[in-house]
Formats: sequence, C-alpha cells, structure tokens
Amino acid sequence: MSTGNVFIAQISDLHIKRPGELAYGHVDTATALSRCIVEINRFVPRPDLVVVSGDLVDTPTRDEYDHLKALLEPLEIPLLAVPGNHDERALMRAALPDQPYAQAAGALNIASRAGAVDVVLIDSTVPNAPHGEIDAGTLAWIDTTLAASTTRPALIFLHHPPYLTGIGHMDRQNLRNADQLAILLRRHARVRLIAAGHVHRATLSTFAGLAATICPAPNHAVALDLDERYPPSLKVEPPGFHLHAWFAGEDFGTVVTHVVPIGDFEGPHPFFGRDGRSL
Ligand SMILES: [Fe+2]
Repeated sequence: MSTGNVFIAQISDLHIKRPGELAYGHVDTATALSRCIVEINRFVPRPDLVVVSGDLVDTPTRDEYDHLKALLEPLEIPLLAVPGNHDERALMRAALPDQPYAQAAGALNIASRAGAVDVVLIDSTVPNAPHGEIDAGTLAWIDTTLAASTTRPALIFLHHPPYLTGIGHMDRQNLRNADQLAILLRRHARVRLIAAGHVHRATLSTFAGLAATICPAPNHAVALDLDERYPPSLKVEPPGFHLHAWFAGEDFGTVVTHVVPIGDFEGPHPFFGRDGRSL
C-alpha cells in the first residue's frame, strides 16, 4: 500500500568513458556505475525515481553515450537526466530520446512528477565551458513551471552548485548567475530543496533560504582541498549517492537527504535480543 511518501535517488557525475578506458587514468567509472545501480535496485523501499544531475559521460563522444546506455540497462527504476559540463546537449538528446525535455532545442530542462512531488531539472550548462549559467529562456521556464501550482511541493535538481564549497578550482566553475536563480526561487514557497552535483562530494548548505545539497559520486571524489595546497586533484574515496525522502506534512512536507554508501558492508546486526535487552 502506498504511504504517499516519495523517495528519489540522485546519482551524479558518472563520467562514463568508452569500454575499457579509465577516467583520468585511474578510475573505472563503468564498474562504479554498475555497482551503484545494484545498490539502487536493491534499496528498500524502492525509489520512485532516479535523477542524474549531470556529467553522464566524460569527453563527450557518441561512443561514451552508447556505453552509458548499455550500463544503465539493468536499472529497474525510471530515470531523468540533465547535463553537466562534461556532456553535450545534442549527443545527449540523441542518446536519451525518451527523456521528456521541455524544449525541442537548446537547454535540456525537465518538469516531471514523482507521486505528490514535482521535480524540476534545470540545465545549468554553458556549451564548451566548465562553469554553469542558467540562460534567460530557462530562467523564464523555471518561473512559469513553478507558478503552475501553489500546492504541490517542488524539488530542484541541476549540475552546477549555486553555493561555494571552499574548493577553489570547483568554486570557479560554479553557477555564475546563482543570484538570479535565488531571486526567482524566493517567489515560490513550494520549493523544498535544491540539489546539485559537479563536486563529487556530499555537502550541505543553504541557498535562497532553502536546504541545498551536493550529491557524492559513484566513482571518485574531488579532493577535499580547502587551502589550495594541490593542483585540481581527485581521490578515490567511498562512493555513494543521495536518497531524498519526502514525507507529507504541513508547509509542503519535509525532505530529508540520506547519503547511501555503495558497497557490501557488515550488518545489519540487531541492537536487541528477543528479550528486549541490548546484545
Ligand atoms: Fe561537472
């Protein structure tokens, strides 16, 4: 029986290469994605939706998108995807023809639903540039999309974080017109979360008075270098994804974001025995 709760798995920054190639000479991103899909498929309760917040492939090439499609085949849950700076709009449109992109050309924006929740996926990419910027047409579309209801909660997804992380080389590729997005979001009380990617690390902040998160990656992390000690670097840290759980309630309900580690770990071991005493 449905509880009315909504569970959205967010995965980000897959960086799929051609078969047999490693990302940055070190990371088997294909195996990492396959492990992530196993984790999502076996998660209980089953997520209603999987959102991919950009950087589906790495270079990008058609071969990489073909590899991506093959790797996504075992995923048993509907998927929505927006691009990151490593994607290319035309190649992505061609590779994922079933995606319900709102515009027939240009930005790959999506307005969809998961149960009682509206999900709004924003294309924050600038062709041939690593930083993010939401174009004027997309800003207008976001405003219109959010104005379509005053009662349904809405969750926002995009690739480029609208807030600083303290990791200098990533912050220089941030969402450049975050101030324009903030003005717009403040007009719509039904937005409950803004969820980004790009940094390959789980972070939590606030933006425009909203909870704001960055999703970890299923593969490598950007090194947590808050002092610019290193050149831009990656570290192979425990992989993960975000599980955004929405629970019905007053004021457009509550969203809690869980970091789900990917892998086989010991447990669960019960805390208590049959007599109710601690083991
Ligand atoms: Fe990125």
